[in-house]
Amino acid sequence: MGFFIKGKMEREEPQKTHATHGGVLAVWGSPGSGKTTVSVKLAQYLTSKGNNCILIFADMTTPSLAYICRPDDLIEEKSLGSILAAAHVTDELVKRNCSFHKNNKYLSMVGMLKGENRFTYPPYEQEQAKELLIAAEELAPFVIIDCSSHISTNLITGNALMMADSVIRLCGCDLKSVSYFNSQLPLLSDTQKFDADRHICVASNVLPNQAAREIEKSMGSIRCQIPHSLEVETQFLEGDMLKDYEFKESRAFRKAIEAVSKEVFGI
Ligand SMILES: Nc1ncnc2c1ncn2[C@@H]1O[C@H](COP(=O)(O)OP(=O)(O)OP(=O)(O)O)[C@@H](O)[C@H]1O
Ligand SMILES: [Mg+2]
Repeated sequence: MGFFIKGKMEREEPQKTHATHGGVLAVWGSPGSGKTTVSVKLAQYLTSKGNNCILIFADMTTPSLAYICRPDDLIEEKSLGSILAAAHVTDELVKRNCSFHKNNKYLSMVGMLKGENRFTYPPYEQEQAKELLIAAEELAPFVIIDCSSHISTNLITGNALMMADSVIRLCGCDLKSVSYFNSQLPLLSDTQKFDADRHICVASNVLPNQAAREIEKSMGSIRCQIPHSLEVETQFLEGDMLKDYEFKESRAFRKAIEAVSKEVFGI
């Protein structure tokens, strides 16, 4: 499958886009708030416009590559574990360990594979996590990190929150989400490292009966709302999240993803 050097495909010329600035985005938030869904859908949107994108799945306990697309659609299945097991993570190593979707030549994915866990590979340190993010930024104009909610133990997530150009803070619209942020935001209080004030707060998976005002009351200032979509939920249940949208029902969801992309990447 085609791989690329920043902004330039080796096999495929990307279509020209304008006024985009790219960058590294960390999608972080409460457990089950839709981090993986939003990360995949943002990557799908960017790549549909001919932009090269690396999507990094930080989850080491529930390998995302095992459920975001059909096994038959994955080509060159490679593991994040092989990257982190190296003494140093180079651009070349990351390039060699990306997985691809057969219908999306602009998307490269880095994640753990079906059946793997953190003990499948030797332990990794801060250094490898940092180097992975630096390499990804070198390799592609758009990098999206689907973070874990476990910010203190997942090193990719911790580093992504420090190093990313933008951070989306995804809020589920329930008390569990409120409890999560009350517990975890103090861990980001070191403003030199984390600058949590710059997070883009997004309400996720919002149902029609969840009024915006109510959400703001408990979450603070919300920049965008991503509505619940039955089609997106079905794609998730069918394990086919990179499938094209087919139904009008998901229009509001799609528009919200576009709005988030505009806010973060200018596209
Ligand atoms: N906008 C949405 N519309 C419909 N369903 C959604 C939406 N966002 C998330 N979901 C559903 O919520 C569930 C959790 O989504 P997802 O796995 O993306 O969350 P997560 O934050 O990545 O979870 P985890 O904390 O386990 O990593 C899934 O069933 C998914 O389909
Ligand atoms: Mg997830």
